[in-house]
Amino acid sequence: MILDRYDMFPHIENCMTMTIREWMYFHNVMHRHYTRWMDRKVLKPPFDWVVLGDIIQDTKPEVIIEIGSYEGGCALWMANLLDAMDSRAQVIGIDVIDTPTKVQHPRITSLIGDCLAPEILERVEHLSAGRKGMVIEDSDHKYVTTRRILEKYHKFVAKDCYFVVEDTIVEFMNVPPFPGPLRAVKEFVKAHEDSFVIDRSREKYILTYNPMGYLLKIKEPEVTHE
Ligand SMILES: C[S@@+](CC[C@H](N)C(=O)[O-])C[C@H]1O[C@@H](n2cnc3c(N)ncnc32)[C@H](O)[C@@H]1O
Repeated sequence: MILDRYDMFPHIENCMTMTIREWMYFHNVMHRHYTRWMDRKVLKPPFDWVVLGDIIQDTKPEVIIEIGSYEGGCALWMANLLDAMDSRAQVIGIDVIDTPTKVQHPRITSLIGDCLAPEILERVEHLSAGRKGMVIEDSDHKYVTTRRILEKYHKFVAKDCYFVVEDTIVEFMNVPPFPGPLRAVKEFVKAHEDSFVIDRSREKYILTYNPMGYLLKIKEPEVTHE
Protein backbone atom coordinates (compact mmCIF):
# COMPACT_ATOMS: atom_id res chain seq x y z
CA MET A 1 0.00 0.00 0.00
CA ILE A 2 1.25 3.51 -0.77
CA LEU A 3 0.21 6.17 1.72
CA ASP A 4 0.05 9.51 -0.08
CA ARG A 5 -1.56 12.37 1.77
CA TYR A 6 -0.23 14.77 -0.84
CA ASP A 7 -1.51 13.01 -3.91
CA MET A 8 -2.54 16.31 -5.52
CA PHE A 9 1.19 16.95 -6.07
CA PRO A 10 3.04 15.52 -9.03
CA HIS A 11 5.51 12.75 -8.28
CA ILE A 12 9.19 12.91 -9.11
CA GLU A 13 9.15 9.99 -11.54
CA ASN A 14 6.89 12.10 -13.74
CA CYS A 15 8.98 15.28 -13.36
CA MET A 16 12.44 14.20 -14.40
CA THR A 17 12.46 16.58 -17.36
CA MET A 18 11.11 19.53 -15.35
CA THR A 19 13.29 22.62 -15.68
CA ILE A 20 14.49 24.63 -12.70
CA ARG A 21 12.20 27.45 -13.83
CA GLU A 22 9.18 25.11 -13.83
CA TRP A 23 10.15 23.77 -10.42
CA MET A 24 10.46 27.33 -9.09
CA TYR A 25 6.95 28.26 -10.31
CA PHE A 26 5.57 25.05 -8.84
CA HIS A 27 7.24 25.63 -5.51
CA ASN A 28 6.35 29.31 -5.42
CA VAL A 29 2.67 28.33 -5.36
CA MET A 30 3.01 25.31 -3.08
CA HIS A 31 5.44 26.36 -0.38
CA ARG A 32 3.20 29.16 0.85
CA HIS A 33 0.66 26.58 1.95
CA TYR A 34 2.65 23.53 2.91
CA THR A 35 5.86 24.71 4.60
CA ARG A 36 5.54 25.22 8.33
CA TRP A 37 7.44 25.31 11.57
CA MET A 38 5.44 24.55 14.73
CA ASP A 39 2.22 25.20 12.81
CA ARG A 40 3.30 28.62 11.52
CA LYS A 41 3.97 29.26 7.87
CA VAL A 42 7.55 29.75 6.78
CA LEU A 43 7.60 31.41 3.36
CA LYS A 44 10.94 30.00 2.32
CA PRO A 45 12.06 27.18 0.10
CA PRO A 46 13.75 24.34 2.00
CA PHE A 47 17.22 24.87 0.49
CA ASP A 48 17.37 28.53 1.59
CA TRP A 49 16.06 27.49 4.98
CA VAL A 50 19.00 25.07 5.38
CA VAL A 51 21.45 27.75 4.19
CA LEU A 52 20.03 30.18 6.75
CA GLY A 53 20.73 27.60 9.45
CA ASP A 54 24.29 27.17 8.15
CA ILE A 55 24.85 30.94 8.24
CA ILE A 56 23.56 31.28 11.81
CA GLN A 57 25.72 28.38 13.00
CA ASP A 58 28.80 29.60 11.10
CA THR A 59 28.61 33.26 12.12
CA LYS A 60 26.92 33.07 15.54
CA PRO A 61 25.16 36.44 15.52
CA GLU A 62 24.00 37.89 18.85
CA VAL A 63 20.97 39.55 17.32
CA ILE A 64 19.03 38.60 14.18
CA ILE A 65 16.79 41.25 12.70
CA GLU A 66 14.10 39.78 10.43
CA ILE A 67 12.34 42.42 8.34
CA GLY A 68 8.95 41.01 7.32
CA SER A 69 8.24 38.25 9.82
CA TYR A 70 4.67 37.39 8.69
CA GLU A 71 3.34 34.61 10.98
CA GLY A 72 6.64 34.46 12.83
CA GLY A 73 7.35 30.88 11.75
CA CYS A 74 10.90 31.67 10.68
CA ALA A 75 11.54 33.81 13.77
CA LEU A 76 10.37 30.93 15.97
CA TRP A 77 12.53 28.43 14.09
CA MET A 78 15.57 30.73 14.49
CA ALA A 79 14.80 31.11 18.20
CA ASN A 80 14.58 27.31 18.54
CA LEU A 81 17.85 26.88 16.63
CA LEU A 82 19.50 29.41 18.94
CA ASP A 83 18.12 27.44 21.91
CA ALA A 84 19.76 24.29 20.51
CA MET A 85 23.01 26.21 19.97
CA ASP A 86 22.93 27.35 23.60
CA SER A 87 23.34 30.88 22.26
CA ARG A 88 22.30 34.04 24.07
CA ALA A 89 21.17 35.69 20.83
CA GLN A 90 17.90 37.54 20.37
CA VAL A 91 15.57 37.73 17.36
CA ILE A 92 13.84 40.96 16.38
CA GLY A 93 10.87 40.35 14.07
CA ILE A 94 9.44 43.38 12.28
CA ASP A 95 6.15 43.48 10.37
CA VAL A 96 3.55 46.07 9.43
CA ILE A 97 0.82 43.58 10.27
CA ASP A 98 0.19 42.34 13.78
CA THR A 99 -0.83 38.80 12.83
CA PRO A 100 -3.02 37.17 15.50
CA THR A 101 -0.90 34.02 15.28
CA LYS A 102 2.31 35.93 15.98
CA VAL A 103 4.63 33.76 18.00
CA GLN A 104 5.68 34.14 21.60
CA HIS A 105 9.20 33.12 22.63
CA PRO A 106 11.53 34.66 25.21
CA ARG A 107 14.13 35.36 22.52
CA ILE A 108 11.74 37.09 20.12
CA THR A 109 10.83 40.76 20.22
CA SER A 110 8.07 41.63 17.73
CA LEU A 111 8.00 45.17 16.44
CA ILE A 112 4.82 46.18 14.63
CA GLY A 113 5.18 48.93 12.06
CA ASP A 114 6.92 49.98 8.89
CA CYS A 115 10.55 48.89 9.10
CA LEU A 116 11.59 52.28 7.72
CA ALA A 117 9.60 54.32 10.25
CA PRO A 118 11.92 56.31 12.54
CA GLU A 119 10.36 54.85 15.71
CA ILE A 120 10.98 51.25 14.50
CA LEU A 121 14.58 52.09 13.55
CA GLU A 122 15.07 53.64 16.98
CA ARG A 123 13.77 50.47 18.69
CA VAL A 124 16.04 48.29 16.56
CA GLU A 125 18.99 50.53 17.40
CA HIS A 126 18.22 50.23 21.10
CA LEU A 127 17.62 46.44 21.06
CA SER A 128 20.72 45.65 19.01
CA ALA A 129 23.16 48.09 20.62
CA GLY A 130 26.56 46.48 21.21
CA ARG A 131 25.48 43.15 19.70
CA LYS A 132 26.92 41.29 16.74
CA GLY A 133 24.08 41.67 14.24
CA MET A 134 22.67 39.90 11.21
CA VAL A 135 19.80 41.20 9.05
CA ILE A 136 17.29 39.30 6.90
CA GLU A 137 15.24 41.46 4.53
CA ASP A 138 12.01 39.71 3.50
CA SER A 139 9.40 42.48 3.24
CA ASP A 140 7.82 43.74 0.00
CA HIS A 141 10.83 43.10 -2.29
CA LYS A 142 10.28 46.27 -4.31
CA TYR A 143 13.44 47.90 -5.60
CA VAL A 144 12.81 51.21 -3.82
CA THR A 145 11.95 49.61 -0.46
CA THR A 146 14.89 47.22 -0.62
CA ARG A 147 17.32 49.99 -1.52
CA ARG A 148 16.15 52.09 1.43
CA ILE A 149 16.22 49.12 3.81
CA LEU A 150 19.78 48.26 2.77
CA GLU A 151 20.89 51.82 3.48
CA LYS A 152 19.11 52.06 6.83
CA TYR A 153 19.91 48.59 8.16
CA HIS A 154 23.44 47.78 6.98
CA LYS A 155 24.90 49.40 10.09
CA PHE A 156 23.27 46.66 12.20
CA VAL A 157 25.28 43.96 10.40
CA ALA A 158 28.55 43.09 12.12
CA LYS A 159 31.79 42.29 10.32
CA ASP A 160 31.82 38.62 9.19
CA CYS A 161 28.02 38.50 9.41
CA TYR A 162 25.38 38.59 6.67
CA PHE A 163 22.72 40.84 5.25
CA VAL A 164 20.39 38.36 3.54
CA VAL A 165 18.15 39.88 0.87
CA GLU A 166 15.43 37.42 -0.05
CA ASP A 167 13.54 36.80 -3.29
CA THR A 168 16.07 38.31 -5.69
CA ILE A 169 14.95 35.41 -7.92
CA VAL A 170 11.98 37.48 -9.19
CA GLU A 171 14.39 39.09 -11.67
CA PHE A 172 14.96 35.72 -13.35
CA MET A 173 11.35 34.48 -13.16
CA ASN A 174 9.76 37.55 -14.70
CA VAL A 175 7.32 37.99 -11.82
CA PRO A 176 6.57 41.20 -9.86
CA PRO A 177 7.67 43.45 -8.31
CA PHE A 178 9.21 45.30 -11.25
CA PRO A 179 11.87 46.40 -10.57
CA GLY A 180 12.71 43.93 -7.86
CA PRO A 181 15.29 43.65 -5.10
CA LEU A 182 18.28 42.46 -7.16
CA ARG A 183 18.82 45.90 -8.68
CA ALA A 184 18.88 47.34 -5.15
CA VAL A 185 21.44 44.73 -4.08
CA LYS A 186 23.72 45.45 -7.04
CA GLU A 187 23.60 49.21 -6.44
CA PHE A 188 24.15 48.80 -2.71
CA VAL A 189 27.18 46.52 -3.10
CA LYS A 190 28.68 48.88 -5.67
CA ALA A 191 28.23 51.82 -3.30
CA HIS A 192 29.63 49.84 -0.33
CA GLU A 193 32.26 47.70 -2.05
CA ASP A 194 34.74 48.38 0.74
CA SER A 195 32.49 46.72 3.33
CA PHE A 196 30.14 44.23 1.61
CA VAL A 197 30.64 41.41 -0.90
CA ILE A 198 28.11 39.08 -2.49
CA ASP A 199 28.90 35.59 -1.20
CA ARG A 200 27.77 33.21 -3.92
CA SER A 201 29.08 30.19 -2.01
CA ARG A 202 25.82 30.35 -0.03
CA GLU A 203 24.01 29.39 -3.25
CA LYS A 204 25.62 25.97 -3.17
CA TYR A 205 22.42 24.06 -3.91
CA ILE A 206 21.87 26.10 -7.14
CA LEU A 207 18.17 26.17 -6.22
CA THR A 208 17.81 29.42 -4.31
CA TYR A 209 15.27 32.22 -4.15
CA ASN A 210 18.08 34.56 -3.13
CA PRO A 211 20.61 34.64 -6.01
CA MET A 212 23.26 37.29 -5.19
CA GLY A 213 21.24 37.96 -2.02
CA TYR A 214 23.77 36.70 0.55
CA LEU A 215 25.81 39.80 1.41
CA LEU A 216 28.78 39.29 3.69
CA LYS A 217 30.18 42.24 5.59
CA ILE A 218 33.95 42.06 5.25
CA LYS A 219 34.89 45.34 6.87
CA GLU A 220 33.38 48.10 8.97
CA PRO A 221 33.12 51.25 6.84
CA GLU A 222 35.72 53.96 7.41
CA VAL A 223 34.46 56.71 9.69
CA THR A 224 35.36 60.02 8.14
CA HIS A 225 35.79 63.03 10.42
CA GLU A 226 35.28 66.40 8.76
C1 LIG B 1 7.24 37.28 2.48
S1 LIG B 1 6.44 37.74 3.98
C2 LIG B 1 7.67 37.34 5.18
C3 LIG B 1 7.88 35.86 5.38
C4 LIG B 1 8.77 35.46 6.52
N1 LIG B 1 10.03 36.17 6.54
C5 LIG B 1 9.03 33.97 6.47
O1 LIG B 1 10.16 33.56 6.17
O2 LIG B 1 8.09 33.22 6.69
C6 LIG B 1 6.54 39.50 3.87
C7 LIG B 1 6.05 40.23 5.09
O3 LIG B 1 6.62 41.56 5.03
C8 LIG B 1 5.71 42.46 5.61
N2 LIG B 1 6.07 43.82 5.14
C9 LIG B 1 5.90 44.36 3.90
N3 LIG B 1 6.39 45.61 3.86
C10 LIG B 1 6.87 45.89 5.11
C11 LIG B 1 7.50 47.03 5.71
N4 LIG B 1 7.71 48.15 5.00
N5 LIG B 1 7.88 46.96 6.99
C12 LIG B 1 7.65 45.83 7.73
N6 LIG B 1 7.06 44.72 7.21
C13 LIG B 1 6.68 44.75 5.93
C14 LIG B 1 4.34 41.94 5.16
O4 LIG B 1 3.31 42.37 6.03
C15 LIG B 1 4.54 40.42 5.19
O5 LIG B 1 4.06 39.83 6.38
